Amino acid sequence: MTVLLGIETSCDETSAAVVVDGRDVRSNLIATQFDLHAKYGGVVPEIASRAHIERLDALICEAMSQAGVTPDVIDAIAVTCTPGLIGSLLIGVTAAKTLAWSWKRPLIGVNHIHAHATSAALATAVDPWPAVALVVSGGHSSLFHVRDYGAIELLGCTADDAAGEAFDKVAAILQLGYPGGPIVDRLAREGDPTRIAFPRTMLAEGSLDFSFSGVKTAVLYHVHGPGRTAGGLERLSPQDVRDICASFSAAVVDVLVAKTMLAVARCGVETVVVGGGVAANSMLRSRLAEALAERRLTLHLTPPEFCTDNAAMIAALGYHHWRAGRTSDLSLTAVA
Ligand code: KG4
Ligand code: ZN
Repeated sequence: MTVLLGIETSCDETSAAVVVDGRDVRSNLIATQFDLHAKYGGVVPEIASRAHIERLDALICEAMSQAGVTPDVIDAIAVTCTPGLIGSLLIGVTAAKTLAWSWKRPLIGVNHIHAHATSAALATAVDPWPAVALVVSGGHSSLFHVRDYGAIELLGCTADDAAGEAFDKVAAILQLGYPGGPIVDRLAREGDPTRIAFPRTMLAEGSLDFSFSGVKTAVLYHVHGPGRTAGGLERLSPQDVRDICASFSAAVVDVLVAKTMLAVARCGVETVVVGGGVAANSMLRSRLAEALAERRLTLHLTPPEFCTDNAAMIAALGYHHWRAGRTSDLSLTAVA
């Protein structure tokens, strides 16, 4: 039995988890900073770092106590070291290095997006690799070819806005609140996804990269009139807003599904895994399930509790790195 402590502080969630043998999540605590950033409409890096400092020690203690473990049974410490906000990452990395030094345990630096890409395996009985992994969050929209935990190849990523960022910005345009993804998702369920033909940006033929800034701008102009950025919201009925949410979601989901299917064909795999906050999106979940079922391919959606930023996915991937000897030393550093 191998017990890992996981630490995640890459953005605006402070998280600590205890995971046994890479799958058995004994605790996974997340202190959200939602209230601290909501009034600014986005994450303020300096506020995020300060909140991580204030919360992390207590959260680690609580995660260990919930899991019923003491430092002597912890085998290794895994921490997100890249990518993310540099100030935020440094808090987690410094805490992890301090514990690794004082407990004399191995330290494992984990790539946050790779952890999202492999998080679906937290709920599968056996490893789902090889697979195409779609990672869609507030900071990333990426496709990976995952051959194994240590062989993760980037196939494509966003050239501008991430999918979640586009959801959040459209919610801001419609003045729906922050973070907007879940609100747009809820309203879209009661809207007509075919009412407005928002653009599907596919980029160059065969490209696995994404671009979502065009569809966001199309929503802006649809709301306020061509070339205008204000003054149009009053004209919209509640049903208009629901139809905009549904039509926008359909445009984003169409692109995500089409590129995922292209990646599947290119890599010759039979399995798709999806992770990141936008994996909670109901239209994405159902459309992807349909597209894959048609071709008799397997879909593993990350369970909702592991979709948002969390330390369980960091400890889980850290375990596989540890098993394969991919550990770090105290020179580990955060990379923005
Ligand atoms: O993975 P995550 O918690 O944080 C990042 O690493 O970015 O993802 C948060 C993002 C936010 O942009 C949020 O609006 C979006 O995921 N999101 C959703 C849904 N739930 C969360 N977007 C669309 N539909 C949802 N149901
Ligand atoms: Zn994330």
